[in-house]
Formats: sequence, C-alpha cells, structure tokens
Amino acid sequence: MKIGIIGLGFVGLSFASVLSSKGFDIVGIDVDIKKLETIKSGKSPFYEPKIEETLQKGLEKKLMLSEKIEYAVNNCDLILVTVGTPMTSDGNIDLRIILNACKKIGEALLKTQNRPDIIIKSTVIPRTTINKIKRKLELKSLKKEGEGFTLITNPEFLREGRAIEDTKNPHLIIIGTSRKKSAEKLKNFYEKIYGKKIPIIITNNTTAEIIKYANNSFLATKISFINNIANLCQTLPGTNVDIVAKAIGIDPRIGQQFLNAGPGYGGSCLPKDVQAMMIFQKNLGEESVLLNAVHQTNILQIDKIINLIEKSVGNLKNKQITILGLSFKEESDDIRESTSIKLIEILLKKQAKISVHDPKAIENTKTIFGDKISYHSKIKNALNNSHCTVIMTAWKQYSNLKNSDFDVMLKKIIIDTRRILNLNDNNLTYVGLGMGS
Ligand code: UGA
Repeated sequence: MKIGIIGLGFVGLSFASVLSSKGFDIVGIDVDIKKLETIKSGKSPFYEPKIEETLQKGLEKKLMLSEKIEYAVNNCDLILVTVGTPMTSDGNIDLRIILNACKKIGEALLKTQNRPDIIIKSTVIPRTTINKIKRKLELKSLKKEGEGFTLITNPEFLREGRAIEDTKNPHLIIIGTSRKKSAEKLKNFYEKIYGKKIPIIITNNTTAEIIKYANNSFLATKISFINNIANLCQTLPGTNVDIVAKAIGIDPRIGQQFLNAGPGYGGSCLPKDVQAMMIFQKNLGEESVLLNAVHQTNILQIDKIINLIEKSVGNLKNKQITILGLSFKEESDDIRESTSIKLIEILLKKQAKISVHDPKAIENTKTIFGDKISYHSKIKNALNNSHCTVIMTAWKQYSNLKNSDFDVMLKKIIIDTRRILNLNDNNLTYVGLGMGS
C-alpha cells in the first residue's frame, strides 16, 4: 500500500516521518520546493522534538518527496490531505489552500484509472467535506465520490511540541465517511500501525468535523475557566490557583489536564478554531454565548498581565522589560497567535524597552519586530539592567533559574505567568499569576 501525504507542515511531516520510519511506503507532497529540499536533507523546516531523527530514519527507508500532486494521485491507495486551514483577519476559516489542493487532486483524478481514498486530516468547519471539498473534487475529476474516489474526514489531535509522540501514540482515531468499505480499509490501516489498542470511532463526515471543533473548543474552555479562577485568586491574598486546579482535577469528571492558568491560549489551533466555530454557529442562528465568553476571557488575559507589570513597575516609559519565552508554548518555535508577541506589542506602545530570550523562537520573532527590541541567546544578557522580567512560556530552562540569576537586573521584579519559578529571596519581588499576595 502506497500512501500520499499532501502538505508537509506539523501534521503532514510528522505522519510522513513516523510512517516511513516504520517502513510504510510514503510519498510526501508540498508545493514549497525550498521546504522539500530542506526535508530531503533530513532537516525539519520548524523545531519539533524528535522530528529530525524520525525523518532521517524515514528517508533511509521509504520516504519519497515530490511537488507533484498527480504523482500521489496516480500511485497511492490513500491520500492524506494535511494542508493548513488558517484564519482570515475576521476570524473565519480560510479554505483557499485546501480547495486549491483539491482542485489539483481532481485534475489528476480526471486523467487516472486509480481510485484512491482521499483522507481529509486538515481541520475544516462542519459540512466542508461533503459540500465544498466533494464538489471541487467531482467538478475537476468529472467523477463521482464513491466511484472515482472516496472521501473520508479523519481529524487529527496531535499537539505541537509533542507531534512525534502523539503521532506514534494517538489517544483516538475518528473516521468520518458514509462509505463502509473505505471506513473498514482505513480502520485496518490504522490497526496495522497501532494495533487494536486505540479507540476508533466510525461516523459520518460532518460529525467527524464537529468532533474536532468540539474537542479544541472544550480544551479552550478549560483554559479560560482556570484563567478566570486565577484572576479571582489574584485578588485574594494567600490563595493559589494551582492548588485549586489540583484539587478540582482530582474529580474524575474534571481531570487534571489543561488546568494550567497562564497568559491565555495561543498557537495556530485553539484561537482559530474557537473563532471559526463561533462564526459558524452564529451563521446558523445558534450564537454561542459560551464560546464568546471563552474567547473574550482569552483576549482579556493579556490585560491582566499588563496590570501586574504596571502595578509593580509603575509607568512603563523607557523601562526595560525582559520577556522570557516567545513561542506560544514550550518545545516549539511557533509564534503564531503567541501571547508573548501580543504582550510585546502592547509594551512597545507604552514605550517600554524590550529585551527577549527564547531557546528556539528568536528567528521567527525577528520577522515581526526587527530592530525594535533586543534579542538574546543567553538568559543572563536578556535580564541585564532590566526593571521587570515576565516569564511567558514554560521552557524548562526558566524553571531552573535561581535567585542569583536575577542579580543582574536593575530592579528584581519577576512576573511569572506560568508559576514555574521557585524563589525565596526577600530582596526580590515575585508575582505569580493566579497567586494572591
Ligand atoms: C491543540 C490541541 O491540544 C491538539 O489536540 C490539536 O490537535 C491541535 O490544537 C490542533 O488542532 O492542531 P496545540 O495548538 O499544539 O494543540 O497546543 P496546546 O497544547 O493545545 O496549547 C495551546 C495553548 O494553550 C498554548 O498557548 C498553551 O500554553 C495553552 N495552555 C494549554 C494553557 O494555557 N494551559 C493549559 O493548561 C494548556
């Protein structure tokens, strides 16, 4: 069985690397020739733990790379579509990339006898598969879904920073299709990779699409909820959001995960999916009061951090503020919708001077701020002469910082939005977000 993977971003490259390293016959397709060259040389275009070693194993085995979609359409039994579905400036889902990929798949289907199963892994708003994607493929191929090809919605749940681990050990597989035979074929394929230990739910395309949005919306809801509790704790001396989270998380109906209060959720998925879902529901006349509140809570969280900084430092004009952590989460160089970037934008408007450190995301950040801020590869240099340090991302190296590491600061004020520091120095002002003092 030959498998085509169209779009080599986090999901596509993780699957291509893991599957080929396990000996599956994989063709990875991407329009970006430069990216393909990087991948061919065994390098990942983005930082992701364990991806390069997995990719290199795959390249030694059965990973082929090409920019030609028609190669995959002519030769593959399964075609996984893993292209991006980003957010437009008004919060809608931008389907141009996926529909363009489907146009090319359709044109290639027109000229082939091959009848592949086309597996939509990209996140798409409910009914996109059976309406827009199916229509595009049928229009371009002049073939009917179920005859010349089949269409399956198979959303992905892997996380950045753990993409390889999650691809190797998914917690769930969703197969959305009205074609029983194709569902069975895809189920067998997954069981070949994972054995029978992973739950597989077979449903229709639209339910599969809703599952993905419900999943991410629920995760976002948990984060906004705990941030709400954190803001309450902040006002009540002696209280600590982490103890509240630990206690409520012991209730099995709630669970421990995704209860880490912080600067708000960022990244290329949760903010985008919550907003797309809100708009989708509104257009159906079913406005979601809940998701609106989740989204608003998330937006307002950055103001809470600004308040904490101003309360400790006073007027920010010409004060040097150090930001530790730029990526939207640790173990990633991704700054899309990163709250650190939003914080820096606000601080610059208030005429603060900004110095930053991040183990991986400096280069990406330079593309946004250029020479407006100063970048440091050593934490100590970023802290030098600073009036206040704000920890935004829970990188391990920050949790290892000791009292003396902050001696180079002009004023030892530390705002820890992730509560990862453990300091006990009376000469130091430590403010943990969600810890009332
Ligand atoms: C998210 C989902 O977790 C994945 O299951 C999903 O596959 C992915 O989106 C997607 O749709 O592609 P990801 O965006 O990689 O994954 O990152 P998360 O681990 O969900 O973190 C998102 C944001 O929430 C980060 O800014 C993180 O710092 C924040 N967060 C997370 C918290 O503030 N508190 C928490 O307890 C957890």
